[in-house]
Amino acid sequence: MIELRDVTKVFPNNGDNLIAVDHVSLSIHKGEIFGIIGHSGAGKSTLIRLINQLEEQNSGEVYVDGNLIEAKDKKEINKKRQKIGMIFQHFNLLWSRTVKENIELPLEFVKEEKSVREKRVEELIRLVGLEGREDAYPSELSGGQNNELGLQEL
Ligand SMILES: Nc1ncnc2c1ncn2[C@@H]1O[C@H](COP(=O)(O)OP(=O)(O)O)[C@@H](O)[C@H]1O
Ligand SMILES: [Mg+2]
Repeated sequence: MIELRDVTKVFPNNGDNLIAVDHVSLSIHKGEIFGIIGHSGAGKSTLIRLINQLEEQNSGEVYVDGNLIEAKDKKEINKKRQKIGMIFQHFNLLWSRTVKENIELPLEFVKEEKSVREKRVEELIRLVGLEGREDAYPSELSGGQNNELGLQEL
């Protein structure tokens, strides 16, 4: 469950304050599909970025699965972020790495063992139906296949 409690985010703006997220509270339950709709500049991206603390709120709290998510908790935040998937509108695949190597990359970052990485990569390739394309490069995949691969980067 994702929970925002009375969250406010203010950006300084030419000596003024711009309230991007204004006292927002919401709960998103497991399995629920929750859309955030609003005009350009309404604060949608900022709100989403608060969930994994790419932005830090000025007030209020963010909880994921009952755990308080705080950017200022430098020790814990990266561990917690690993459990929060986020897909950027323009996510980046590494074009010089194969499908398999792209999927493996985040596991290398967290220094996961090779055997664990390989097993996980295999599972994820199967999950998105890219079996047989493990050694292809992103440029050799269709747009849809690139999307599937991007999702697995999480
Ligand atoms: N890093 C930032 N610094 C200053 N102002 C920002 C920053 N990020 C977003 N804003 C401002 O906050 C408001 C909300 O932006 P954003 O969350 O990107 O809106 P949306 O995603 O709904 O289009 C906008 O006015 C934007 O200019
Ligand atoms: Mg946006």
